Amino acid sequence: MKRKGILLAGGTGSRLWPITLGTSKQLLPIYDKPMIYYPLSVLMLAGIREIAIITTPEDQPQFQRLLGDGSQWGLSFTWVIQVKPEGLAQAYLLTRDFLAGAPSAMVLGDNIFFGHGLPEVLARADAQLSGGRVFGYHVADPERYGVAAFDADGRVTALVEKPKVPPSNFAITGLYFLDGRAPDLAAQIKPSPRGELEIVDVLERYRAEGSLLVERMGRGFAWLDTGTPGSLLDAGNFVRTLQDRQGMQVGSPDEIAFRQGWIDRDALAGRARIFGKSSYGTHLTTALNE
Ligand code: DAU
Repeated sequence: MKRKGILLAGGTGSRLWPITLGTSKQLLPIYDKPMIYYPLSVLMLAGIREIAIITTPEDQPQFQRLLGDGSQWGLSFTWVIQVKPEGLAQAYLLTRDFLAGAPSAMVLGDNIFFGHGLPEVLARADAQLSGGRVFGYHVADPERYGVAAFDADGRVTALVEKPKVPPSNFAITGLYFLDGRAPDLAAQIKPSPRGELEIVDVLERYRAEGSLLVERMGRGFAWLDTGTPGSLLDAGNFVRTLQDRQGMQVGSPDEIAFRQGWIDRDALAGRARIFGKSSYGTHLTTALNE
C-alpha cells in the first residue's frame, strides 16, 4: 500500500508571542516563503502525493487559500479539522478513514529539515514496510523535545517527552514514519499529565515490540526549530544564506513537483508567472531554464 502523508499544520494558538497574531505561525514566512512549505516539501521529497492537512476550524480557510487542493503541484489534499490541540497522536485518530490502513509519514508544520542526502534518507524510511522510523537529532537543549534514551549498545530503551533530566542529547524530530497500525495504537494511549495524547507514547508501543528504528541524523543535516523568536529568526537567516550562496531553493513545492515529474514545464512556467518578480518567482524561472 502506498504511504500517505499527514501535515499537522497547527493553529493560531502559539507560545511564541505574548499576543495572538490572528494567524497561524505556520503561515508566516521563513525568509521568502511560508513556513508550511518546508514540511510539505519533505513529504513531497519522500514521494508522497496524497496528504491530509490538519488544522483548527478557524485556521482552515487561511491554509486553504494558500495551499488550495494540491493539484497545482500534482498532489491531492484532504482537509481535516482538529478542534483543539489535544496532542500530536490525535492526528492518527483524525486521519483513520483517510489512511484506510495505509502506512503514513507525519510531519509537524513548524519543523524544517535540510541536508545533503535527505531524499535518500526519506526513501529508506518509506521502504520500511512495518514498524516505525523516526529521526534523532543532537541538540543542545533536549529538555524542550521528545528525547530518546539509549543503552550501552546504542539501542533505544525509552522515549520521554520534555524530560527535566534528559537521558541523552538526541531529540526526536517532528517527522514520523509509521505503519498502518498507527491509528489503532494511538487509540490505546491515554492523555499525559499535560492533557495531550503524546506521540512519544505511540512510539513507545512500537519500541516495546522492537519495531521502532531511531535513525540518527548526522552533522550534515539541519533540523531547524521555530519555537522561539530567536530560532525563528535563525531559521530565516539559514535559508537565506543557503539560497543566496547556492542560487538554489530550499523548501519549494513548485520546484520539487517539477523535478518529480508531477507537473510539466508549462505548469511550472504558469506558477513562476504567478509569483512574478519576487525572489521565489525568480528562482522558479531559473529552475525552468536549467
Ligand atoms: O518539534 C519536535 C517536537 O514536537 C518533538 O520532539 C516532541 O516529541 C513533540 O511532542 C513535539 O513537541 P512540542 O510539544 O514542542 O510540540 P507543539 O505542542 O509545539 O506542537 C508542534 C506543532 O504541532 C505545532 O506547530 C502545533 C501543532 N499541533 C500541536 C498539537 C499538540 C497541532 O496541530 N495539534 C496538536 O494537538
